[in-house]
Amino acid sequence: MDEKKIIAVIGATGAQGGGVCRAILKDVGGGYRVRALTRNAGSGKAQELKKLGAEVVEVDIDDAESLKRAFHGAHGAFCVTFFWEHFSPEKEMAEVKNMADAAKDAGVRHVIWSTLEDTREWVPLDDRRMPTLMEKYKVPHFDAKGEANRLFSERGLPTTFLLTSFYWENLIHFGMGPKRGEDGNLYFTLPMGDKKLPGIASEDIGKCAYAIFRKGREFIGKTVGIAGEHLTGGQMAAALTKALGQEVRYNAVSPEVFRGFGFPGAEDLGNMFQFKRDFESVFCGARSLVFSKALNPAMQTFETWLAENGDRIPIEKGSLRASGE
Ligand SMILES: NC(=O)c1ccc[n+]([C@@H]2O[C@H](COP(=O)([O-])OP(=O)(O)OC[C@H]3O[C@@H](n4cnc5c(N)ncnc54)[C@H](OP(=O)(O)O)[C@@H]3O)[C@@H](O)[C@H]2O)c1
Repeated sequence: MDEKKIIAVIGATGAQGGGVCRAILKDVGGGYRVRALTRNAGSGKAQELKKLGAEVVEVDIDDAESLKRAFHGAHGAFCVTFFWEHFSPEKEMAEVKNMADAAKDAGVRHVIWSTLEDTREWVPLDDRRMPTLMEKYKVPHFDAKGEANRLFSERGLPTTFLLTSFYWENLIHFGMGPKRGEDGNLYFTLPMGDKKLPGIASEDIGKCAYAIFRKGREFIGKTVGIAGEHLTGGQMAAALTKALGQEVRYNAVSPEVFRGFGFPGAEDLGNMFQFKRDFESVFCGARSLVFSKALNPAMQTFETWLAENGDRIPIEKGSLRASGE
């Protein structure tokens, strides 16, 4: 009989969940099996996971019954939500409720919830340094995740609250890479002044999560934060210059300017970066590099990530305004 413990992984074809699946699948003798959850078992990415040895199960996190079936018999569940699919904190909360209900129903022994800070604990809604968005949030995609923590606690679920960091893949997929300005120079735009931004290779989130599952009870009921490095915009621009072989200048715009860029989510992200800038010691302090490296000794630095991925960063003409406002 197969004694391996099943870890059910939400978002298995995505960045965080995919990393969790690959970390478990690589550790053949580790005593764990992957149940990869996806809306489409026939997709190329789902089939790839199947080839690597995962059980692939269809689920929609908006369908509570499908989650209950997907968590049935699982020892562990990796839970993540997809704010940028719908931009709705209320929907995100409802999806977390579905996950917590399903984990309770299935008697899951260890949940890892990929969460973020509820920034309103530091910046209450009446604090005018940044605008209130959608009537009751400062950073909607952070606040909803932080508020949703209680949905696991209230149900008495054995949960580790995992604080993740800015993925460096945002430079590839999220339009945050350097842009060529009107003057022909390359600019890396971030509204962080001279403060440090914790960043991570998204694949490393999965490796850390697997290490947390393997630790058993050690991190149950705890909040743990992870990052590969804490870097200023200037340090990131210097690393980009080295990796791309072309000078990249740091364009330290203000959060107000960033919020005004006009792309979907610009205000949310402008507030997010302002929170990270204004509460640098809180935000970096919650994501210890020593702790992260102890969980995952292979943790990548920005430089090692760039060496592998630098050529995937598209260099576009500036959609983020490339001038030092
Ligand atoms: N970007 C960053 O720097 C960063 C940093 C920290 C935290 N985050 C947070 O990370 C979260 C996103 O995680 P990610 O980057 O791993 O996502 P992702 O790479 O965009 O992956 C999303 C995956 O989720 C699945 N999915 C989407 N809607 C679903 C649904 N209704 N039911 C079931 N599966 C669904 C999709 O798989 P199928 O199509 O196969 O179903 C897709 O592959 C966001 O909430 C974001 O706030 C992002």
